[in-house]
Amino acid sequence: MLSLSKRAELMPASPIRKLVPFAQEAKKNGIKVYHLNIGQPDIKTPELFFEAIRNFDAPVLEYALSQGDIKLIDSFKKYYEKCNIDFEQDEIIITYGGSEAIILSLMAIGDPGDEVLVPEPFYANYNGFACEAGLVIKPITTKAEEGFHLPSKEYIKSLIKPNTRAIMISNPCNPTGTVYTKGELKMLGEIALEHDIFLIGDEVYREFVYDGLEFTSLMHIPEIRDRVIICDSISKRYSACGARIGCVCSKNKDFMKTIMKFAQARLCVATIEMLGATSLINTTKEYFQEVNKEYQKRRDIVYNALLNIPGVVCEKPMGAFYVVAKLPIDDAEDFAKWMLTDFNVNNATTMVAPAAGFYATPGLGKDEVRLAYILKEEDLTVAMDILAKGIKAYSNK
Ligand SMILES: Cc1ncc(COP(=O)(O)O)c(C=O)c1O
Repeated sequence: MLSLSKRAELMPASPIRKLVPFAQEAKKNGIKVYHLNIGQPDIKTPELFFEAIRNFDAPVLEYALSQGDIKLIDSFKKYYEKCNIDFEQDEIIITYGGSEAIILSLMAIGDPGDEVLVPEPFYANYNGFACEAGLVIKPITTKAEEGFHLPSKEYIKSLIKPNTRAIMISNPCNPTGTVYTKGELKMLGEIALEHDIFLIGDEVYREFVYDGLEFTSLMHIPEIRDRVIICDSISKRYSACGARIGCVCSKNKDFMKTIMKFAQARLCVATIEMLGATSLINTTKEYFQEVNKEYQKRRDIVYNALLNIPGVVCEKPMGAFYVVAKLPIDDAEDFAKWMLTDFNVNNATTMVAPAAGFYATPGLGKDEVRLAYILKEEDLTVAMDILAKGIKAYSNK
């Protein structure tokens, strides 16, 4: 009998997409569904991107360099300079989004069965990336009541085993919206030095930080620059998810040499999208200020609405465009499904992501949901009102 690999068996399906058939059914029945379950921003991609692509006039669509187009690498280098991060050209390799940057990084640092510590709840696709690379994610549990900040150094150290290869963080964090403090990053740096492991910083939400808070990159901690790997992307920064452009950067020469071999094996990233991405370095400061203001407004709508729902626990998220909230409900997955199958207000309902799929520890997150605040103000206000009414109706069932 034809059979597939062990890896195929272990590969998880996306937990966020599990409820999609119920949303489709609701829509078929004439119900409007407000999607707070996915992180696809509605912000316009800067016109510069499309202009550059329209101006493409080479007679042959050739392979690009495996490292990525030099002009794009240069454009990332300039971008990092503005972030006070000094990556040289040979310390940047262009990838198919942040996703490929993470997959290649995991493939480079560990052998099958090796472990990577990640604060949970974490971006659910990390499970898929680790599975593709043959690595295992071990969770560092964080709590809603503590704003999902990191536990003590001693606790994190107690999770490290001889085959732990790295600690990976999403900062600002999807799904929690937590922005790690400089103190937390320094602590991770000390642990990485003491145990001689890598630190992977998934910083694809770097610009999305609110209330004037300052973002600290792992690259801002001088002592650990030789062991930091930055995974990055233009998907969220410029609302260009479909371009599939990102990069992996590190000052660790052996690591970068390995990534280059992987990059060569997949030849190159799409030539035309790289051209579009190169132009984005010229995006104005005002664009980011506008976008930031918009998301901060949305964050406030969602957070204030959550505060007004009796029994909800959540700290104010400071970054990215997500929040994880504990609901006064035992089974958030059943609730999320019920919202789609049995509940509506004036023929409209709200779709949320049950948070259990963002945890590696069985049983955790069962009473939590993740909300993405990616809708415009009016829609978000209605969606949160429906959610509040839904929680009340579900609890009184
Ligand atoms: C934390 C995090 N990392 C990485 C990615 C991957 O993004 P992309 O591959 O589009 O760059 C996402 C996408 O949602 C994300 O939320």
